Formats: sequence, C-alpha cells, structure tokens
Amino acid sequence: MIDGLDVKDFKLDKNELKIEIEKLKNELDVSIVAHYYQKDEVFDMADFKGDSLELARWAAKDEKEFLIFCGVGFMGQSVKILSPKKRVLMPKIACCAMARMIDGEYYDTNVAILEKAGIKKEDIMPITYINSSADVKAKVGQMGGMVCTSSNAKMIITKARESGKKILFVPDRCLGQNIAKGMGLQSCVIGDGSDPKDSDIICYNGFCSVHQLFDTDDIAFYREKFPGILIVAHPECKVEVCDQADFVGSTSQIIKFIKEQPLEQKIAVATEFNMVNRLRKENTYILSSSKPECPTMNETTLEDLYNTLLSIKEKRFDNEITISEDVRKWSYIALNRMFEI
Ligand code: 13P
Ligand code: SF4
Repeated sequence: MIDGLDVKDFKLDKNELKIEIEKLKNELDVSIVAHYYQKDEVFDMADFKGDSLELARWAAKDEKEFLIFCGVGFMGQSVKILSPKKRVLMPKIACCAMARMIDGEYYDTNVAILEKAGIKKEDIMPITYINSSADVKAKVGQMGGMVCTSSNAKMIITKARESGKKILFVPDRCLGQNIAKGMGLQSCVIGDGSDPKDSDIICYNGFCSVHQLFDTDDIAFYREKFPGILIVAHPECKVEVCDQADFVGSTSQIIKFIKEQPLEQKIAVATEFNMVNRLRKENTYILSSSKPECPTMNETTLEDLYNTLLSIKEKRFDNEITISEDVRKWSYIALNRMFEI
C-alpha cells in the first residue's frame, strides 16, 4: 500500500495489456507464436498457432528479426537451431517435464547400457522426440540419428529401420511403444528387465506426467455412460489407453479429427485441457477426473508476453535463447534429417 493506493492499481488489467501488446507488436520487428496448450489469453495474441512441428517450420521461415515463442523451452530452441540468425525470446523459459527427464549425460549412460547388453554403438539408430533439449538432439545427430514429432514418428521410424539397426527411442517411452505396437514391432523400456536385443525399438524410460493421467478406467466409464462416444488420445498416453482409443494423433491431428465430427457426436479427449476446452464446448469431455493442465505450458502469462516485448523495445532482450555453435550444428543435422524425410 503506497499513500492509500494498492500496488496492484499500477498494473495493467488484461484488456489494457492486450492493447499494449498490439501496440508494441506494430512498433517492433517481431512475430509471436503459441502452442495449442497455451492459456487462451496468450494464445489469442499469437500471429501463428500450431503443434510443435508446424511452429518450428513457420517460425524458421518467418522474416521478422525477433520471434517470441509462447511454449516450452525445447520449442524455442528448435527455432534457434533451424534459424540461428533469428533472435528468439521466450516469455518464460518453462522446461517440458518430459524433456527434462534426459540430458546428454543420461543419453550416454543409456547407450552404454545397451553396449553392455551386447548391442554395439554402430548398430544403434537413435531417434529423439522433438520434446528434448538441444544437447540430446546433438548427441542423436552425432550418432547418425534424427528427430521426430508426434505427427510423423511412424514415418521417421519406418525410414530409420531401413538402416537395419536397432532403434533407440528417447525420451518418451509411451510414444515409442505406441508406434512399435502400431507397426507390429517388438519394443521394450530400458530397465524393464527384458533383453533389449529382443526388441526392434528400445525406449528410454521418460514420459509426460500430464498424459499419464488418462486411464482405461476412464474409457470404460465414458463408454458405459455414453454408448457411441469417440475416444481421442495423444500418443504420449499409455499404450493401453491408445489401444482402446478410436483416434490417436498429434495436437493438430486431434483438432482436425474433432472438427470433422458432427457437433452432436460425443467425444472424450485425452490431452491437455486448454486446447480441448477451446476447441469445442459441446458434447466434449476430458478423459480424466483431474484437470490435465501442463504446468510448464501454463507458466506463460499475458503479463510475461508484454514484458518480453518491452524488453525488446528497451534492448534488454529478456530470456533470449542461445545455443553453442557445436550443439547447434549437430542438433540441426538431427532436425534436418527429419525435414528431409
Ligand atoms: P504436439 O507436437 O502434438 O503439438 O505435442 C507437443 C506436446 O508437448 C504434447 O504434450
Ligand atoms: Fe511436456 Fe507433457 Fe507439457 Fe507436452 S504436456 S509440454 S510433453 S510436460
């Protein structure tokens, strides 16, 4: 309290913030992109919205000097890897919990585990889900491997198998196992007690805690309550959930699928709350009794976005993404192999 005034009185409200953000956007050479999981208020301010692959592609081609990426750390890093001259800033450098489950050192340790189990390093073809740090992507690039996203994982694995090598899939065990199952391949998770030599796809033991919330009990509940309901899931969900789903796809693929359904069609969706809630209010259910919000995606607020723009205007450049040239070079190779396919 200052002289009878509450400090919050000096803050801009949401509408004022939106006006100021628009003004700064018009003044500066900047684009804003947002992932589907962002809060509505942030999402609404973006010039381009999409899944992780679409955002990386769009942002790398955009001609503005500055890019503000509303999403999680690996997404901003992907743009910097693809387009090193672009100045990429993030309102919050919020790190995806799954991406944080593996770093370069853990990656090396897991390759060593496979070598100990009798699989030579040169017989391993690593693939990293785009939800990983630049360091991990660089390690994968150095070993001849590539990146995939949830929308192209099957295509990338199919191509990678032409090498005749064992696939080491990091960090998401669920995506790796789901793709293996869909392709009729044998998979295992490192440390699950099985011999990795018996598997075509060997998965690192990482996962998304948000997508672990969805269970087959919830599917049984909705199927009984609403016969004819469609179950839609992101491939970061558990294998048993994806097995029972009517449709499995990336965020963009889920949006497309749902938009194609008649409004009276009941749908229960297993992915992040902000996206589902924005998509369709009628006859739509979240396939979980707890609200599946991604804590890190939700860290970014309208105020953060405003402050980031202000930091460009004032030449402070808060939260600018930087990557060492050696890491960038190898992570670019891993990402580019995906784009070439
Ligand atoms: P998409 O690539 O499908 O947008 O997914 C990113 C993500 O983090 C899902 O949890
Ligand atoms: Fe990462 Fe999961 Fe959040 Fe996606 S939903 S950004 S995988 S923690």
